[in-house]
Amino acid sequence: MTKKIVLSGTRSTGNIHLGNYFGALGNWVRLQDDYDCHFFIADWHALTTGYADTSGVKDSIYGIYADYLACGLDPERSVLFLQSAVKQHAELHLLFSMSTPLSWLLRCPTYKDYLAKNEEESSATYGFLGYPNLQAADILMYRADFVPVGEDQLPHLELTREIARRFNHFYGDVLPEPQALLTPAKVLPGIDGRKMSKSYGNTIAFADDPEAVRQKVMCMITDPARIRKDDPGHPDVCSVYAFHKVFSEGESDAIGEACRKGEIGCVQCKKNLAARVAAFHTPIHEKRTALLQNRPRLREMLLQGSARAEVQAEETMVRVRSAMKVDF
Ligand code: TRP
Ligand code: SF4
Repeated sequence: MTKKIVLSGTRSTGNIHLGNYFGALGNWVRLQDDYDCHFFIADWHALTTGYADTSGVKDSIYGIYADYLACGLDPERSVLFLQSAVKQHAELHLLFSMSTPLSWLLRCPTYKDYLAKNEEESSATYGFLGYPNLQAADILMYRADFVPVGEDQLPHLELTREIARRFNHFYGDVLPEPQALLTPAKVLPGIDGRKMSKSYGNTIAFADDPEAVRQKVMCMITDPARIRKDDPGHPDVCSVYAFHKVFSEGESDAIGEACRKGEIGCVQCKKNLAARVAAFHTPIHEKRTALLQNRPRLREMLLQGSARAEVQAEETMVRVRSAMKVDF
């Protein structure tokens, strides 16, 4: 029986952090057992907002690829590739841009959020507006059955399905409609209690060295109402507790109880957490650090994966070009 196809990717802005791992990457690692998996680094997508200063893009590609491997994505079992190394993505994006109505792109939440946050409409670029077209190209290129994504990406996936339907309507049945794969995600807040996100600068990344991670844990926001160590605490407003729920499975209820009764101090509670986070983080950190010692080897591996992706991409493009009669 042929396996169903899974595809997902990460924009190459910064490195992978614990929020990414527990929200997505950890699931991707498990999906490799049951699906024909494709995971990639979306370096063109990074340019939709970061076009003016591209100096960090290459470091980010190496960093994310090392993170992928260190976390357990396996280039033998999965196709791990770089978007910009498979030029067919640009071609399919161009073809989709001819037929995707502007109104579909204008109503996309990512675009609307951007306009709400930035005064000047003119600061949004053509490429940024077309982000979902490029994402549709990424997905439909590999005829993906499933796309494991977080809820924030569901509008993009819906748009991908609409783009596929529209293509098939005009040019014949070529592109299968993908489905979202909603995998169980554990939500980790950032060290300041907000969502863990690069843009808030509140992440714990695999790139962080163990001492930095320990310090970040010790600085995490706890229950602000707790001043003395025997004050009864409210674990549900505490980021340390949110981490314990992920890292101290089976014991987090007892930790919450002890907090509520004022039986443990926050310093002790954080030290306990720091040890558990380190047990998970340090081996992955060390693996990625070792991999990054040999960048030429990483580059070769990533380009090999991209060459495999390109063979599949070209197969789809032959069908797309023929269906659209742009195969003169
Ligand atoms: N938009 C995704 C993100 O910001 C990254 C991405 C680009 C992607 N192309 C994709 C995810 C295709 C899944 C499938 O996280
Ligand atoms: Fe948070 Fe632990 Fe302090 Fe309770 S004891 S407020 S869970 S750090």
